[in-house]
Amino acid sequence: MRTLPDNFLWGGAIAAHQIEGGWDKGGKGVSIADVLTAGAHGVDRKITDGVLEGYYYPNHEASDFYGKYKEDIKLLAEMGFRCLRTSIAWTRIFPKGDEEEPNEEGLMFYDNLFGELLKYGIEPVVTLSHFEMPYHLVKNYGGWKNRKVIDFFVKYSLTVLKRYKDKVKYWMTFNEINNQKNYKYPLFGYTCSGVIFNDDPHPEQCMYQVVHHELVASALVVKEGHRINPDFKIGCMMACVPLYPYSCNPEDMMYSVEAMHDRYLFGDVHVRGYYPSYVWPEWERKNIHVKMEPQDERILREGTVDYVGLSYYMTNAVKAGAVSEGNGLDGFPGSVPNPYVKASEWGWQIDPVGLRYALNLLYERYQIPLFIVENGFGAVDKIEADGSIRDDYRIEYLKAHIEEMKKAVIQDGVDLIGYTPWGCIDCVSFTTGEMKKRYGFIYVDKDNEGNGTLERKKKKSFSWYKKVIESNGEDL
Ligand code: BG6
Repeated sequence: MRTLPDNFLWGGAIAAHQIEGGWDKGGKGVSIADVLTAGAHGVDRKITDGVLEGYYYPNHEASDFYGKYKEDIKLLAEMGFRCLRTSIAWTRIFPKGDEEEPNEEGLMFYDNLFGELLKYGIEPVVTLSHFEMPYHLVKNYGGWKNRKVIDFFVKYSLTVLKRYKDKVKYWMTFNEINNQKNYKYPLFGYTCSGVIFNDDPHPEQCMYQVVHHELVASALVVKEGHRINPDFKIGCMMACVPLYPYSCNPEDMMYSVEAMHDRYLFGDVHVRGYYPSYVWPEWERKNIHVKMEPQDERILREGTVDYVGLSYYMTNAVKAGAVSEGNGLDGFPGSVPNPYVKASEWGWQIDPVGLRYALNLLYERYQIPLFIVENGFGAVDKIEADGSIRDDYRIEYLKAHIEEMKKAVIQDGVDLIGYTPWGCIDCVSFTTGEMKKRYGFIYVDKDNEGNGTLERKKKKSFSWYKKVIESNGEDL
């Protein structure tokens, strides 16, 4: 193969809670994203006890995709998008999460949204749970700690899989389920599962229990999903941060292998249908007991995924004996700065070659198709006096990553479905809640405090990416 396949899915990615806004419109219930305040680099987002007076919640209005999706999709179509990755807000469909019947107005919204995409030939790629579970399930059931939440999630998922079975082919169950391995950092457990692991007497065990429930739920949905439509492609989604050994010292090498177990663990279960060998001795050493029901083993085996969706932003380097505890935002346990790469303003190390490495690692390990469902450069954009936004730094980042992605496909034979850069329309940052950490080809006029007209503007990268898609990645 000399070029990318003709049916390569070029597009972009967003998530309901970061882009839609309309947090209380159309019968939507409160989600966990609705109780997150804004933070900044080095300032954690607060998780408040409900929606409280006197706090600013950036996801409530976000970029108002809820009101402006037609205008936005028209722009995406102009860029030539072949797909759009977004998520369904669970709380639009089941506002509290435990209702008998779904909310028709919420279902209609996604009917219209997917219909609008299809009108332009844009394939929807849909995540079922992207950091936006119903707040009610957290307050009243304890989030994913409670096994009952499996039933609620499966019900919600099957409702939408059935409803959109002729509109959506590509699905993913949980976004970045492996963020939770950093169980000490509250934002990760809370956004993935509605649980703050540190509040539990045995935080690490609690994390494994929660994720076990999610893995079982995911497998049930994959299996049932294939019954609903055998053509569905249902994937998992992993945050892929390869951890390089700091040096060729065998101790560093071995440390990086152990550290990578943390990154792979949940993906291994999603893809292979059973827990990998390295987890059992670890649980024994740490005295971790995960409660599993007798049927779980079968469920996991029967619900393996069709592809691996991954986000790739950076690599980290780890060193045996290094003291850093790491919280996953500014590094992992044992991580040290890599002298060969630069970092973004938010400390994310920029490493295009790491993307080729990541694709090789995952494909060699799993031998099923991969899909890069997030990649990108969060940066502050400036509007020039003439109104233009010259985001050459973003073009440079994406160009370098696409070049490496092409090598992985063309030279290394990786089976890759597509590429959807993150935040193709500016949206609220997940980790900091800021607007100024922008990824888009399309600028949204709004600042960190929520001021702005929400007007859309094309950045320089807009016409660049259009050309990339048009040439199927040849003209970079
Ligand atoms: C991924 C998430 O972790 O990274 C997205 O799936 C998120 O939701 C993206 O927005 C970029 O992170 P941030 O904090 O820069 O928005």
